[in-house]
Amino acid sequence: MSDPLNAVVLGATGYVGGELLRLIAGHPGLALAAAVSESRAGDPIGDVFPHLRSARGGQSFSAHADWAEQIDRGARVALFSAAPHGASAAIVQAALDKAAARDFDIHVVDASADFRYSNGDDYAAVYGAAHGAPELLEQFASGVPEHVEGAPAPHVGHPGCFATAVLLAAVPLLKSGLSEPELFVTGITGSTGSGRSPQPGTHHPERHSNLYAYKPLGHRHTPEIVRFSAAASGVEPVLNFIPHSGPFARGIYATVQAKAKDGATADALKQALAEYYADAPFVEVVDGTPRLKDVVASNRCQLGCAASEDALVVMSAIDNLVKGAAGGAVQWMNRLWGLPETEGLESPAPAWT
Ligand SMILES: NC(=O)c1ccc[n+]([C@@H]2O[C@H](COP(=O)([O-])OP(=O)(O)OC[C@H]3O[C@@H](n4cnc5c(N)ncnc54)[C@H](OP(=O)(O)O)[C@@H]3O)[C@@H](O)[C@H]2O)c1
Repeated sequence: MSDPLNAVVLGATGYVGGELLRLIAGHPGLALAAAVSESRAGDPIGDVFPHLRSARGGQSFSAHADWAEQIDRGARVALFSAAPHGASAAIVQAALDKAAARDFDIHVVDASADFRYSNGDDYAAVYGAAHGAPELLEQFASGVPEHVEGAPAPHVGHPGCFATAVLLAAVPLLKSGLSEPELFVTGITGSTGSGRSPQPGTHHPERHSNLYAYKPLGHRHTPEIVRFSAAASGVEPVLNFIPHSGPFARGIYATVQAKAKDGATADALKQALAEYYADAPFVEVVDGTPRLKDVVASNRCQLGCAASEDALVVMSAIDNLVKGAAGGAVQWMNRLWGLPETEGLESPAPAWT
């Protein structure tokens, strides 16, 4: 058995960064070489994440300037970025430059939106700013691991949490041919989806015991979901997407509705979902409706479906921080390095969160 890979996490003090540190602690193929932070460099990891104190011992955060020298020249490096979009591309570029200077064998998985588009113009049109490293885009593939064969590029941009929840439901629905290609989608996310810095609209008093839609029919992840749906299913949907803020910390619950084609039935839809995900270890097609608590804090997705004469619906529940970010990123990293796809990700949901 070979030595574990050197895992490096950029943006390590954020919510996704913290989940990466937690998952790496339980992954036999990854050893944390550096948790990289600009704001907390030198501080013990346990000061920012007390729940990780026992797992991370006396390890401290490293500065961007220092992490590469902590790792042996020529080492195998699994580098994750959990920095915000707009900042991630430039720090990934700087990290790859350091890696080249130290002859690292490296794969990168980025949790931000910076590597979800194949060209800088499409990115700039959605995010309103020039891409931070457009020359790197051709080295990145993107998509939900269940919808992409193999590892088509050395590095991967994770598709994001709303996109993962919606795509896991929408792609087999579109591919089945049972529905029209116009989708009506509601997605409800927990508050960790907004990161650790409170904003007026995402602060606890606003979200607790509350539920509201935001950016209806205008959310910036819509074009990404359309693009990934088309690539995976061969059908480009019209997507009517309404995100909601839910009164819970973790999880995403998405319902994807479409007009049924003549003769479509609930049984046919369920069979299409089950066949599509027959070899997908993290996706379970359930009887009835999925429930958040059955997936939260795990890398699992539950799908359920229903049909009337006119309409079809597929419901999808995931954890935004695990399957929708850190766990999906580890799943991709496993694949990029040829490790078993489930390694370090098999813990079931605790349910009583
Ligand atoms: N939260 C989710 O559910 C979720 C799901 C899917 C994808 N994502 C994506 O994952 C990334 C991280 O999300 P998050 O929720 O963990 O965010 P977060 O809690 O705000 O953490 C982001 C971290 O990035 C670092 N950072 C902030 N500004 C930076 C800059 N200008 N340059 C470099 N580093 C910077 C900070 O760490 P230091 O100052 O310590 O370096 C910060 O703790 C984002 O791109 C987000 O869109 C999040």
